[in-house]
Amino acid sequence: MKIALFDSGIGGLSVLHHAMKVLPREQFVFFADEDHVPYGTKTREQVLAFVAEAFDFLMTQDVKAIVTACNTATSVAAAEMRRRYDIPIIGMEPAAKKALDLDGRHRVLVTATPITVRGRKMDVLIEKVDKAHLVDRLPLPELVNFAERQEFESPAVSEYLRRQLAPFDFSRYSALVLGCTHFNYFKDTMRRILPPHVQLIDGNEGTIRELVRRLRERGQLEDLPQSVDYFYSGRRVTDAAELARLQRYMQRLDRMYVI
Ligand code: DGL
Repeated sequence: MKIALFDSGIGGLSVLHHAMKVLPREQFVFFADEDHVPYGTKTREQVLAFVAEAFDFLMTQDVKAIVTACNTATSVAAAEMRRRYDIPIIGMEPAAKKALDLDGRHRVLVTATPITVRGRKMDVLIEKVDKAHLVDRLPLPELVNFAERQEFESPAVSEYLRRQLAPFDFSRYSALVLGCTHFNYFKDTMRRILPPHVQLIDGNEGTIRELVRRLRERGQLEDLPQSVDYFYSGRRVTDAAELARLQRYMQRLDRMYVI
């Protein structure tokens, strides 16, 4: 059986990219909801409906687990999807705990989509892990559109990030959390803007660690030739130009991996 990874768009490729390194003998289904991206600026009701449709589709694809490789979809719909389906559904939430555990004295800036930043799930997380009130939150919705357009290092990207990050005095911060999987494509630009002591923290490692734990617990790890089937909103991607587009994202992620 296969492992599904689901995102509103191509952000989830960053989670797939890591999963393929950790699980070289598994077969994957990657679902990007390209018809409906971005999610982060829509209503919770709309996002729940999109996620439900995607999960209904994925359940027809012989999958043993679904990784919701999207903080926004997790925030809105993971609990409801777990009620509906009895396979492991691994969610993602901004890695605020990881960032606080690394330092615990300086401030942490959690970036995400507007839905994730304002969501109840985020309030609960912060209440639980941020006893010293060190976390600030910042929505960066434009990065999702830039990433979908494969615009990673343009002057417009740098300007947008500089403007959004300008109000923060980073001498007081130890980390910036990438709380949206689309943001992983901008690690190099962020690195150029932020002082070197500010660490960039994403949630990919923790998410895949949890996936492995759940599959091992169920005796469901496989030993097969690795493969990935790509879908855009339920349509199998077979077009060479589209597959090349996806490969370009994966190549960029190779470069972002070490930053
Ligand atoms: N990649 C998604 C996330 O991790 C959402 C981006 C969007 O569709 O707005 O939050």
